[in-house]
Amino acid sequence: MIPPRPHTTEGRGSLWRFVRAFRHDLLSALPERLYRAWMAEFRSPLIHSFVCNDPALIRLILKDRPGDFPKSNRLRAGLAPLLGASVFVTNGPEWAAQRRIIDPAFEGGRLHQTLPAIFGAADALVARLRPGLQDIEPETSFAAADVIFRALFSMPIEHETAAQVFAAFRTHQEAQPVVNWAALLPWPAWLPHPHSRRTRRTAAQIRGLIAGLVADRMAAIRLGNAPDDLATRIMTTPDPQTGHCFSEPQMVDQVAIFFLAGHETSASTLAWALWLLAAHPEWQDRVAAEAASLTPDMAGVNALRTTRAVFREALRLYPPVPMMVREAARPETLRGRPVPRGAQLILSPWHLHRHQRLWDNPDAFDPGRWSRPETRSSARDAFIPFSAGERVCPGAGLAMIEGAAMLARVAQAFTLRPGPLAPVPVARLTVRGQDGIHIHLTPRAERDSSA
Ligand code: HEM
Repeated sequence: MIPPRPHTTEGRGSLWRFVRAFRHDLLSALPERLYRAWMAEFRSPLIHSFVCNDPALIRLILKDRPGDFPKSNRLRAGLAPLLGASVFVTNGPEWAAQRRIIDPAFEGGRLHQTLPAIFGAADALVARLRPGLQDIEPETSFAAADVIFRALFSMPIEHETAAQVFAAFRTHQEAQPVVNWAALLPWPAWLPHPHSRRTRRTAAQIRGLIAGLVADRMAAIRLGNAPDDLATRIMTTPDPQTGHCFSEPQMVDQVAIFFLAGHETSASTLAWALWLLAAHPEWQDRVAAEAASLTPDMAGVNALRTTRAVFREALRLYPPVPMMVREAARPETLRGRPVPRGAQLILSPWHLHRHQRLWDNPDAFDPGRWSRPETRSSARDAFIPFSAGERVCPGAGLAMIEGAAMLARVAQAFTLRPGPLAPVPVARLTVRGQDGIHIHLTPRAERDSSA
C-alpha cells in the first residue's frame, strides 16, 4: 500500500491563494510542481517567499552561512506569548549562549540517562491501549508528553501539574492552531502581532504552571535533593563562556519549547509509523520479532536496526515539521535569482523528502532503502526531519531512541491493522491525519493463542 499524500493543486503560485488555503491545510495549498522543482517563488505586496528544494541551497542556508539566514522577528513575535525568548526563536549571540547551556544535557553520551523515562512511558502506553479500532493520535500525544515530563521533571503525565500543562497546551493549540507557521503569515513585521485574547490567556496559564515547576526545582537544587534529570542538568549548567546559568524566567521559556517542540513532533511520527506498520504487515512482523528481545538499555536500543529504519522512513514520508522558515538578512542571488533582503526562505522537508529528482520511488514506504548505500549518499542533504547545521534539533537523539522504543513495545504487544480509511496528512502544528489516524489493535497473545 502506497502511503497517502495530500491533494495538491497544479498551477501558478499565488501567495494569497496559498494563505487562504493555509489555515485549513498548508500541504494541500501548495502546488504539485514543488515535488519536482529546485526552487519556487511566491510573492504578494506584503511578503516575498522562495521555497528552496535544491540540496545545495539547503546546505548553504542551514550549514554554510546560517548567520546570513536567521529566523525572522515575525516568528519571534508570533510565538512570544508562549515561548518568550526561547532558543527556538532567538538568533545570534543570544541563541548561541542558550545552545551552549542546553546542548550538553542532550549529548549522546548522556542519553542513556533518559532511558527510564522513555521505557516507563512506553510501558504505560502499552498498558493504556485497548484492543479494537481507534484513533491512535491522542494516544501517541499523551505518550510523548509523558516522555517529556518524565525526562525533564521526573514526573509521569498523571502528575497533577503535568496533566494540567498537557490540557492547557491542547486548549492553546485550539486557540492558535498554526503556532509553527506564525512566520509564514503575510503579516508586516512592523505591525504588532494579532494574538487573540484566548491565545494570550492560555499561554499565560501554561507559563504560570511551568514557572511553578521551575521554582520548585530551583528550591530542590538549593537544598541538594533535586533528581538528576534534564531540568536539573540544564538549570545547573553554566554557560562555559560567561559562567551564567539560566535565570528562572529564562528556564520557563526553554521548558515551554522543550514541551512544545518535543512532544507533538514525536507523537506525530509515532502515529504515522504505527499506521505504516499496520499497512505493511511484513515490516510489522520484522519489528515485532526484533522487539521480542528488546532490553531497556542502550545495547537493546542499538540492536533495533529494522525498527529504527521504519521510524526513519516515517520521518521521511511524514516529517512532523513539514516546513522551516528563514529570512535573507541581506540581498542574495540564489540559483541565479535575485532574493531581496527580508525575503522568506522556506525549507520544506515535506517536499524535499518526496522529491522526484532526489529519491527512488519517493512516495513508497521502503525502510530497506536506509541500508542501501545510494540512499545514504542521496539523503545527505535531502533528509532533514530534524533540520541540519548549528540549529539542528537538540532533541534528535532522544527522539530517535524514543521512537524506536515506543514502536517496538507497541508492535510487540499488539498486531496492527489499518482502519477502513487511509489517513490524509494535513499540516497543523505538526503533520497530522485530517480525521485522525485509525488503527485496529489485537493483543498478540490473544491472536497467537487463537491461531
Ligand atoms: C521526532 C521528533 C522531533 C522532530 C522531527 C524535531 C524536529 C525539529 C526541527 C525540524 C527543528 C528545527 C526547526 C527550525 O529550525 O525551524 C527542531 C528544533 C528544536 N527542537 Fe526538535 N524535533 C523533535 C523532537 C524534539 C525533542 C524531543 C526536543 C526536546 C526535548 C526538541 C527540542 C527542539 C528545540 C529546543 C529546537 C530549537 C533548536 C534551535 O533553534 O536551536 N525536539 N526540531
